[in-house]
Amino acid sequence: MPSSDQINRIVVADPAALAVTAAGRLMARIEANAGRIAICLTGGSSPKQLYQLLATDAYAKKIPWDRVHWFIGDERFVSASDPLNNMSTARKLFLDHFAPKDHIHPIPTDAATPDESALAYERELKTFYGAGDLDPARPLFDLVLMGVGPDGHTASLFPGYPALAETKRWVVGVPEAHVEPFVPRVTLTLPALASCREMLFEVAGKEKHAILARLSKDESLPANRARSIGEAVFLVDQAAIGK
Ligand code: 6PG
Repeated sequence: MPSSDQINRIVVADPAALAVTAAGRLMARIEANAGRIAICLTGGSSPKQLYQLLATDAYAKKIPWDRVHWFIGDERFVSASDPLNNMSTARKLFLDHFAPKDHIHPIPTDAATPDESALAYERELKTFYGAGDLDPARPLFDLVLMGVGPDGHTASLFPGYPALAETKRWVVGVPEAHVEPFVPRVTLTLPALASCREMLFEVAGKEKHAILARLSKDESLPANRARSIGEAVFLVDQAAIGK
């Protein structure tokens, strides 16, 4: 919830309203693009209600599944069958019911190391994008969903970690997590995440109040450093802002 003028902050009543608002913004991004659409999902618990909503007729029947590709902004380095796997959660909640299999782009976690997995995903993203350099006139993603951790991390970019300073790589391995679950991670970097038309943070619950207060003071935390070359929106509920 940074104070910067470029950040659009939207306050809604509760997590249910947050999911409806996020789904509306996702649909608007889809409607704004008549061609191939790329959406970068996020992990953690915050987006689960949104994913459940997207599986309901009201949304699923309106999504042009044959034109949308689904990516993930960060992954826990665990097998696809592990309940901690972020993309598997999204697959179970909605993607596997509707999306063509080759439109679902998980971060592979069967590589020997998180960094090998990161390099493989970077290759996949570059092939999809059709170039090895990001062009600000042609964002990689239409929409990037993000969450905020209690330490101000976003994706798997933790405070003080070298991954934050990365300017060339699109995806990197993160050997250790700062918070639970304490498993290695693979994460898109700030420049790759920034290459989007909209970056949408979902932040709900009273346990997020303290970190939102720090972000509002423009503290240099990863969630304040992750920005879009297009629009950035902080979608927060009343509890998260202490009401
Ligand atoms: C992950 C994430 C992470 C998450 C935040 C918020 O793999 O854990 O992608 O960045 O978005 O930690 O998590 P919650 O939504 O569970 O609060």
